[in-house]
Amino acid sequence: MERNLKELVSQMTLEEKAGMCSGLDFWHLKSVDRLGIPSVMVSDGPHGLRKQDDKADHLGINESIKAVCFPPAVLSACSFDRDLLRELGDTVGKEAQATDVSVVLGPAVNIKRSPLCGRNFEYYSEDPYLAGESAAAFIDGVQSHHVGTSIKHFAANNQELNRMSCSSEVDERTLREIYLPAFETAVKKSQPYTVMCSYNKINGTYASENPWLLTEVLRDEWGFEGYVMSDWGAVNERVPGLKAGLDLEMPASGGMTDREIVAAVQDGSLDESVLDQAVERILRITFTWLDNREKQNLTLEADHETARRIAEESMVLLKNENVLPLSSSENVVFIGGFAKKPRYQGGGSSHINSFRVDNALEAVKGIAEVSYAEGFSSSKDFYDEKLAAEAVEAAKNADKAVIFAGLPDSFESEGYDRSHMRLPECQDRLIREIAEVQPNTIVVLHNGSPVEMPWKDDVKGLLEAYLGGQAGGSAVVNILYGKVNPSGKLAETLSLKLSDNPSYLNFAEKEKVNYSEGVFVGYRYYDAKEMEVAFPFGHGLSYTTFKYSNLKLDRTEMTDQDTLTVSVDVTNTGDRAGKEVVQLYVSDLTGTVRRPVKELKGYEKVSLEPGETKTVTMTLDKRSFAWYNTDLHDWYASSGDYEILIGASSRDIRLKKIVHLVSTRLLPLHLTLNTPLGELIADDRTKEFGLFLKKKMDEFFSPVSSAVNLSDDESGEDPMGDAIVAATPVRNVVSFGLISKEDLVKKLKELSSK
Ligand code: BGC
Repeated sequence: MERNLKELVSQMTLEEKAGMCSGLDFWHLKSVDRLGIPSVMVSDGPHGLRKQDDKADHLGINESIKAVCFPPAVLSACSFDRDLLRELGDTVGKEAQATDVSVVLGPAVNIKRSPLCGRNFEYYSEDPYLAGESAAAFIDGVQSHHVGTSIKHFAANNQELNRMSCSSEVDERTLREIYLPAFETAVKKSQPYTVMCSYNKINGTYASENPWLLTEVLRDEWGFEGYVMSDWGAVNERVPGLKAGLDLEMPASGGMTDREIVAAVQDGSLDESVLDQAVERILRITFTWLDNREKQNLTLEADHETARRIAEESMVLLKNENVLPLSSSENVVFIGGFAKKPRYQGGGSSHINSFRVDNALEAVKGIAEVSYAEGFSSSKDFYDEKLAAEAVEAAKNADKAVIFAGLPDSFESEGYDRSHMRLPECQDRLIREIAEVQPNTIVVLHNGSPVEMPWKDDVKGLLEAYLGGQAGGSAVVNILYGKVNPSGKLAETLSLKLSDNPSYLNFAEKEKVNYSEGVFVGYRYYDAKEMEVAFPFGHGLSYTTFKYSNLKLDRTEMTDQDTLTVSVDVTNTGDRAGKEVVQLYVSDLTGTVRRPVKELKGYEKVSLEPGETKTVTMTLDKRSFAWYNTDLHDWYASSGDYEILIGASSRDIRLKKIVHLVSTRLLPLHLTLNTPLGELIADDRTKEFGLFLKKKMDEFFSPVSSAVNLSDDESGEDPMGDAIVAATPVRNVVSFGLISKEDLVKKLKELSSK
């Protein structure tokens, strides 16, 4: 049904319009009954519904309706599978329709800058391309049911400490290359109905009242069409916020900020059309949902199965020295409280009231008989001598021991950051003790963010289950016993230790956090520094093996206006069916600017029967090669060579090929008297003049250089002299009396306009 929203807005009073721009209560927008505008509900999100019918809060304290907890983003991102994320969104969208929720508050796409951020479990990746692709797929799924999403937290919200006041100090290039692209991709590809602005400041300005962020970038550049809502309590000053592009304040403001809006319109400091526009945007989304209601039933059982499948497709087999899969004839012991009481979701606003939770001990029953020793509790760090001794004894007597380890709830949550990257001490100790008596030890990790693994070399098998959602327990068992062939890949680097992390010295500052590592986040840093890591970004094993061959580029020369089609064959060379994530990284060899060694620019997940080969095709465009040029305030791909790398992980590159790119865009010339001569010589537009000046310098210096024998090369070449001249500012040519200042200034001006 076509609605004339402008007409509707024109019928609203000033007070009704101002009221429409803040919540009715914790979860609802206001209604205007006389005009047929209903009160609609929004709900967390992102990995299931946290719909509170009763007492409301944004910290996950009060109970919500029974629902399904799907794997949080930390795990689902490891699927590297757009279809799967779409299916997750689709399922959540149906659940939202069934429970009358108009907007689901997610996905959350903030970049994992540090493993200590308490909320990393809700975020996808350290890589903006993967985060953006995953978010776009999820949004498509939810919104296919005309239920809105709220991509969050916009932007640069990468720590929990003082999240409501701290300023993220990030330079323009880093924002554009690392912290904004996940939002940009999702907006451009999938038009989330809403965007949720973050609590923090960015370079001193609150996200909630930042016109550059909320209007210039989000709407004018990216073309966002929905409405912007605040994170819960993120409004600092309401009227400047509204002017900046913050349409809806959540939750309710007790009427205070509504009155501020009314007063501002009345005293002329706020143009009423700004208010009208915000109301129209909000109503458009409300009616999109209302006019497309679907009859859906809450299919909890079926959705539980979907949750299990997503977990199975995402868990990452980190290490396997011929110890997995387990067989039901083996004498296996499960050790650790997480086998009985898994940690499967994080704390805070995303906390789901699961209608059922699988645990490994129960799930294994239909598959094999295993023994169990608790060893340690899943909820605290306490080395219980008796429990530990029993576990060591049980491990000794078994063929294989599987230790279910992980972080207790209190170790990570929304609202605060972790203080270290270790497992509870009692667990590290017991893992070591068990590995000493049992050569076939396997560790399964339940954590929302990486942990240090000092015992990594002492165990034969390692499964990163992350937080598996409510069906994670059965997913773990199905992978351990080979019912499912693992196919997840790490969406973040697992560093050896916390202090290796690029943000280590600049994280969790109280007032201002300096993002001084710039674009070197995650593998971009570890690769540039050639550092050893525990497990690299993109890593993940399978029970089968894959061969890569036949890498083809459809051209070897291209301009930045062309696309490049890359294809590669992947063959399953093992004896069981499996899935492989083919990763494409681009490496800039042009040397124009300091860049990461390589960056992920494409990936595809393929399913292969034993012996089967499939061709995977990916397409690259200018953006795949470009960096953000702050002179242009735009993306720029330099002319030169780029290497296309195809790998099974960021550090397992199997095939490479080079493409030569020619930029159709010229960078502006900023020529001054201080421009080094070498810069003139390097640019085609100024080369001739540069060489002319160089010749003058050479002639001037030649008696000196031969006297001090600067060039002892008989060929007459003088690399040292050339380097010195290249670094010389052109004003020196004037001071040596080789050209008049007027002539030089005139020439530089003439060249600058080229
Ligand atoms: C969180 C949001 C959440 C909101 C509502 C806030 O504290 O940062 O992610 O959607 O609460 O629960």
